[in-house]
Amino acid sequence: MPAIIAFHTLHDANVSICEDGKLLAVLELERLFAKRYFCSGQRKSVFTEQWQQAIDLMIKFTGLSSFDVAVCSWVLPSQREILQTLVNAKEWVTVDHHKCHAALGLYDSPFSDALILSYDGGGNDGTFNVYQGNRRDGVELIEKVCLNLGTPYRQIAMAMPEVTRQEYDPESITTFMRFAPLAMSGKIMGYAALGNVREEWLPHFKEYYKEFLTPLISVFNLGERLGVSLEPNALDNSTARDVAATSQHVFTQLLLDQISKFLDLYRKANNSEPDGIVLTGGCALNVHANQSVIEEFGYPVHIPSAPNDCGISVGAAWCVESPKERCPTLYAGLPLFDVNYLDAVAMERDATKVTVAEVAALLVEGAIIGIVRGRQEFGPRALGHRSLVCYPNRLALKEEINKLKSREWFRPLCPAITERSAARMFLGRESSKKKRCGGNEDPCLSSSPSKVDSPLCLQAVPGESPADWMGLSPYMSFAPPLREEAQKLFPAIAHYDGTARLQTVSPSSEPWFHSLLEEVGRQADDGGYEILLNTSFNVKGKPILNHLSTALEILDSSPEGTMTHVLIEDWLFTPQRQKTPVVDESR
Ligand SMILES: [Fe+2]
Repeated sequence: MPAIIAFHTLHDANVSICEDGKLLAVLELERLFAKRYFCSGQRKSVFTEQWQQAIDLMIKFTGLSSFDVAVCSWVLPSQREILQTLVNAKEWVTVDHHKCHAALGLYDSPFSDALILSYDGGGNDGTFNVYQGNRRDGVELIEKVCLNLGTPYRQIAMAMPEVTRQEYDPESITTFMRFAPLAMSGKIMGYAALGNVREEWLPHFKEYYKEFLTPLISVFNLGERLGVSLEPNALDNSTARDVAATSQHVFTQLLLDQISKFLDLYRKANNSEPDGIVLTGGCALNVHANQSVIEEFGYPVHIPSAPNDCGISVGAAWCVESPKERCPTLYAGLPLFDVNYLDAVAMERDATKVTVAEVAALLVEGAIIGIVRGRQEFGPRALGHRSLVCYPNRLALKEEINKLKSREWFRPLCPAITERSAARMFLGRESSKKKRCGGNEDPCLSSSPSKVDSPLCLQAVPGESPADWMGLSPYMSFAPPLREEAQKLFPAIAHYDGTARLQTVSPSSEPWFHSLLEEVGRQADDGGYEILLNTSFNVKGKPILNHLSTALEILDSSPEGTMTHVLIEDWLFTPQRQKTPVVDESR
């Protein structure tokens, strides 16, 4: 029963513990220190203190304090030396960055054999690596492709004032062009839906991505070719939206080109088809590109819940000892750090215990409720354990929630939905592809295999083509188009391009959340759709919360008429506005 502890200490720092390949727990340090994309401190004393705290929590939760192997990926030697003083392990090993992404993607997937693409803004071993993998032998590198899609994608966001929402000091303008914050990737992805793809720009964007060197060189060169300034905040809004849309289009096309090439290589090398395609690395958070992969190739596509660097430590542990069978990772985070105070705080604040039906009734009446239950999600999406939810039948909810969270007005809000309602609300693969291509049937679609019987596929709606299935999306990894009726019924979750980044919920993945969705479908008078708007429970610039105290602070400070309740386990709290926080544990 080998016990393994694994570390990732750079941005999105995390630590995980596995036993005999089974993931026992993972801690993303941003949740502990309330700092998004948390990167370990550089000073020795700070680094030591941060990691001592994280390791202590993990040891306390798992009950394991000595390890057969400790694994690091892409770590400074001096930091590894510190970790070696904090952890009792017989052996220390190091694993390459993209290999970690690939191992997590493979073993989290339902596939025996897969083509795996790991792509992001950079690791110690490249920016775009392609592997083939099988559960018996692990992952094997096919090729390191010289292509960086991650950094150039987010970098041009700095020229878009609606995306950056900040002023720049003209005295140091080039400083802001060097390092675009990681948060820009998600923002520009939502923003791209507002613009149009400009055909005449396509070759220039292809060159920009293919020859990306540094932001200062490549962004300037792109601006010159397009005939616009790409200095910080320099674009007018109309042009900025088209730049974002064109960039998204080229990003997707370059990904599709690589998959097409490596699928051919895979078939020739193995004389067989893979069970499916795994996309991993930070760029696999691009739900529109992911959706295009499903539509284009007809294979099931799997993306782990933490494809970005939040998942590196788990992949590192699985490079050393793989899981014997597929194990759930979705709620592998820790319980609330201050959960021991829950009952006392509930009594003090006159919270009441409620049933699923009572929570559903509040939601159907229009309540916005923060839900905090069980262990935290693994990865950047809130999937029902640290979520803000409401019934999305009013367009105004979009503005209310984006305001509550200080999010940009154009960012999408997404649905959690039962699998059976998903097939009714969304277009399937073929219909979606036709819509994307302007109604034209693409010849490559009809010639590609279609694995309708995959565990990752939902059946089509009765009466429609059996090939018109849609992929499951348990981790909010895809954004298919909504049917017109669904857009009208639930405008708060329809993005500007008519898509929605859905979470499909099954009774086995989260029984309580699934029963809440079912109950909402029963009580609402809208045709029985089992759906809620589901967005992460946090506020501007902060990571998803993992403190009871933070949940109540957000509730108490929310503007009147917005957030109405917080449900923590089965306790329902109402706001106590004007009051100071009850508990301030570890903050
Ligand atoms: Fe990465």
